[in-house]
Amino acid sequence: MKETDRVMQSYGRCCASDGFFDDFYATFLASSPAVRAKFANTDMTAQKQLLRAGIMNLVLFARGMPDTKLQALGKSHSREHLNISPDLYDLWLTALLQTIGRHDGKLTPTDLQAWRAVLIKGIEVIKSHY
Ligand code: HEM
Repeated sequence: MKETDRVMQSYGRCCASDGFFDDFYATFLASSPAVRAKFANTDMTAQKQLLRAGIMNLVLFARGMPDTKLQALGKSHSREHLNISPDLYDLWLTALLQTIGRHDGKLTPTDLQAWRAVLIKGIEVIKSHY
């Protein structure tokens, strides 16, 4: 099966699992005071919805869609705007992969590897605009 098909199926199972996005943000926020500081004034309910679409954009980019949405995310997260330091994406990726592991009951090691490869491609685009 194609890497991105594996990821789409796994993402479907994650989104159907109660508390997936709550668990992701709890894990991500717990990973560093630098992450908590960035979200100090954020409406986390709205943020969870934004992330749902954000992850989909990473997957669609890996499937061959143009990188327009990711460029926009790169600009909003850049030094001049949200100022998200590139090293924080490692924490984001680790938190997401851990959360996927807890919520996708059918996850295989191959699926997890596919997730990592797919996410890294898009993260590189976002970070390149820092
Ligand atoms: C806002 C996605 C990584 C911190 C947003 C938004 C999206 C998003 C869709 C809504 C605003 C916009 O469109 O720009 C993503 C994706 C990421 C990522 C897909 C990974 C590839 C990070 C990281 C941090 C971060 C590593 C570090 C702490 C923030 C903050 C906001 C934000 C602080 C604004 C929250 C507010 O409105 O108060 N992100 N993000 N993001 N993101 Fe990210």
